Amino acid sequence: MQIFRHIQSLRESLDAERQAGKRIGFVPTMGNLHSGHLALVNKAKAECDVVVASIFVNRLQFGLNEDWDQYPRTFNDDCQKLIENHCDYLFFPEEKEIYPNGMDGQTRVVVPSMTDMLCGASRPGHFEGVTTVVSKLFNIVQPHAAVFGLKDYQQIAVIRRMVQDLCMPVDIIAGDIVREADGLAMSSRNNFIDSNERPKANQLHESLLWTKQQIANGQRDYLMLEAEAKSQIIAAGFRVDYFQICSSDTLMPAAEDDGRVTILGAMYTQSARLIDNVSL
Ligand code: PAJ
Repeated sequence: MQIFRHIQSLRESLDAERQAGKRIGFVPTMGNLHSGHLALVNKAKAECDVVVASIFVNRLQFGLNEDWDQYPRTFNDDCQKLIENHCDYLFFPEEKEIYPNGMDGQTRVVVPSMTDMLCGASRPGHFEGVTTVVSKLFNIVQPHAAVFGLKDYQQIAVIRRMVQDLCMPVDIIAGDIVREADGLAMSSRNNFIDSNERPKANQLHESLLWTKQQIANGQRDYLMLEAEAKSQIIAAGFRVDYFQICSSDTLMPAAEDDGRVTILGAMYTQSARLIDNVSL
């Protein structure tokens, strides 16, 4: 695996791949890689000739009181895992390579739809930071396809919308959620969960599955289901950020006759905010 810290040298190598007719697949990450990220690398490898991963803890998408400085940075382990999973290129830029003029005056990419609700409601500016950095990374790597995880359902929906609205020539591929044995969705933030809370941290997933089952059984009182699921999460000792039954495409609250429904939830443990979703 070749590691690049600068845009120009990465571009030169990838230009040569493109000229050789290779299809380039891209997996953007913030590092601290786990099996969820590696599944995306494998998916990119299956669908493309060359895989580029990036590791960049993008301060622009973190709120002022969020965990940017505590976010786990495990570069050597990450490299090892990427090599084992046959990643070809790693882009690992310093902040000044991505934001040479600082972040305040940085041109932003704003997707107005779907970004104020759910995670966007509790993390104002978050999706603007994501779409801005992902646009920059797309311009740097110029991939044919990019793979994102369904774990961040709202993120991939917003990125799909951005790609459509701005006519970006990138296929967006979705990777399934990879989970721990008890159902907890893998996340770099799982490292922050206190060991005494960990046994119950799969409650969000349990409540998502319970709600999915109720809907599959024909229950259509969505407000009642949401209220009941929230009580289950609170009873397990956690604080609910949101728990919402949504239309899979628009992320608006689902109507009774919606054909495609996704249930999304976020909850706080004592020291971590966890998100998850299931689709019907
Ligand atoms: P990060 O949280 O590192 O996630 C990188 C990619 O891995 C995202 O597409 C995310 O959805 C996916 N992912 C994380 N956990 C997963 C799991 N358990 N199963 C499947 N996929 C999983 O998401 C970001 O970084 C950033 O916002 C980024 C897109 C890199 C922009 O900075």
